[in-house]
Amino acid sequence: MAESMQGLKRTCRCAEVTEAMIGQEVTLMGWVQKNRNKGGILFVDLRDRTGIVQLIFENTHIDAEGLEKAARIRSEFVLAVRGKVQKREGAVNDKLQTGTIEVAVSELRVLSEAETPPFPIEEDSKTKDEVRLKYRTLDLRRPDLQRNLKLRSDVAYLTRQFFHQEGFYEIETPMLGKSTPEGARDYLVPSRVHPGSFYALPQSPQLFKQMLMCAGYDRYIQIARCFRDEDLRADRQPEFTQIDMELSFVDQEDVMDVNERFLHYLFREALGVEVPLPIPRMTWQEAMDRFGSDKPDLRFGMELVNVSDIVRDSEFAVFRNALEKKDGSVRGLNVKGKGGLGRKQIDKLVEFAKGCDAGGLAYIQLQPDGNVKSSFAKFMKEEEMTALIRAMDGETGDLLLFAADRNKIVWNVLGALRLQFAEEMGLLDPKEYKFVWITEFPLLEWSDEEGRYMAMHHPFTMPVEEDWARVDEDPGSVRAKAYDIVLNGNEIGGGSVRIHQDDIQEKMFEVLGFTKEQAREQFSFLLQAFRYGVPPHAGLAYGLDRLVMLMAGADSIRDVIPFPKVKDASDLMTEAPAPVEEKQLQELGIAVAATE
Ligand code: AMO
Ligand code: AMP
Repeated sequence: MAESMQGLKRTCRCAEVTEAMIGQEVTLMGWVQKNRNKGGILFVDLRDRTGIVQLIFENTHIDAEGLEKAARIRSEFVLAVRGKVQKREGAVNDKLQTGTIEVAVSELRVLSEAETPPFPIEEDSKTKDEVRLKYRTLDLRRPDLQRNLKLRSDVAYLTRQFFHQEGFYEIETPMLGKSTPEGARDYLVPSRVHPGSFYALPQSPQLFKQMLMCAGYDRYIQIARCFRDEDLRADRQPEFTQIDMELSFVDQEDVMDVNERFLHYLFREALGVEVPLPIPRMTWQEAMDRFGSDKPDLRFGMELVNVSDIVRDSEFAVFRNALEKKDGSVRGLNVKGKGGLGRKQIDKLVEFAKGCDAGGLAYIQLQPDGNVKSSFAKFMKEEEMTALIRAMDGETGDLLLFAADRNKIVWNVLGALRLQFAEEMGLLDPKEYKFVWITEFPLLEWSDEEGRYMAMHHPFTMPVEEDWARVDEDPGSVRAKAYDIVLNGNEIGGGSVRIHQDDIQEKMFEVLGFTKEQAREQFSFLLQAFRYGVPPHAGLAYGLDRLVMLMAGADSIRDVIPFPKVKDASDLMTEAPAPVEEKQLQELGIAVAATE
């Protein structure tokens, strides 16, 4: 039975009914959250995106037929009701915005019935993700997801408003483009008209926005969908959204300035949070040395300590071998109050370190009872141990952890342990927002896999001028004019000043191992655009999903994306990806090879 809503017009949304409306008649529409019968009087919680209002069905207000209909109501039925707002007769519910009032219904229409949902529609659902994602429509009815998507809408609106006022043009760039190297794996789309040829979905609008600068558009902004075929994590989706921008005739300072003002505006308008300006800055080197991460979480201390010089002459082979390596070091982490951990827990930490490619993890336990337990004391002189503990600020009760290897591994292990302990020790307050700019990234990163240097950001990133002369003798030491904006240990955005000079760009391609012909072929359209007058330009892109995730205090970007994918990049609701008809493949000239 589904009735029409004809003749009824909604007067307001559920939670918009207020005490000031007592005595007035309202018409409401929404879903049944729950219903209960108390001695012939029916109570129904009616829900829409604003929240819940209580309906009361009594024979003093509604006729027998209406009461009978009301008795058949179940959860998630869609109702239209007309009734009078009154003060609650029963107990006030101070958990509800509408907790002091109720609506005495005089007319009821059941607009749609509903089957019993596979899980209750409630805040902080305990239902397994797989079930929730399969029935995403029901999941999206939950108040926390509704709040998140409202916030996401606000963020998009405020972004457009802010950048519009700053003179940015919103310009769209293509979804069907050309596959270019130097990034994540592309998602490819086969061409029917050109069998054997493929479009690539954009990993970002990078090249197009640079061409828009060449075309004189001066300030560009786009809320752009991006696609990257990479392994998924809690903060990664195969399709995600960037707030993408590019500016002409600017340097790094200008980009940072407008973005600091943007973040200040956004957090104030959307959350009522004042972001203190200027946002602090830290070089990449400092971030790695102090926090073992290029996206440091500054909500707590627990900084890394380089103890290489203190242990340099020790007999401990693990330390000595590490210090003999290129870029080798020994660094420590002081975990306050964890000196009493049991053997099993310590073993777990060592296993964790091995999982990060480290050979192991050396430790000193300054146990609460005053005893000192260490995995390597026997290799050390007493005064060396004393100096080491002093350098680590070690006190009774502390756990001192040491990693010895190439810097990259040492930072990785200790940076991850630092975060793990912070979480365990409850040091991470989701309502605290700590921003930091990370600057002076290395321009190039050695890839063991490729056996060559790769661009750390992308091949159009400008080197720091004074370092550029060293690019042949020591490519790894050249810094880039690249910057990331980090919030609470998450990279929420990144960008750079771009190369706009032919000679630097050509040299850059050479360092990356492209021949002139290869470079011309891969980036032909950009290089062509650059031949006809190119302004100095720079830009930045935020991960909108990550930004909203942090603003919403959500644990995963899936909670701020209406229809996300799971770890294997499939969509449990639509069951994409899926095989297609043989005929479709034929049209595209594609034959699928048999796989196991
Ligand atoms: P970058 O690759 O750093 O820069 O991307 C910018 C921001 O996008 C977010 N992000 C992601 N979010 C969710 N899922 C993903 N798979 C994912 N990958 C990236 C991150 C990141 O900081 N064109 C350059 C920007 C520029 O130089 O202007 C670019 O795309 O928050
Ligand atoms: P071993 O002499 O191999 O038994 O190692 C002695 C201690 O050093 C153990 O606690 C190991 O976990 C630790 N260890 C081994 N390799 C490393 C490393 N690369 N960094 C830090 N500690 C290590």
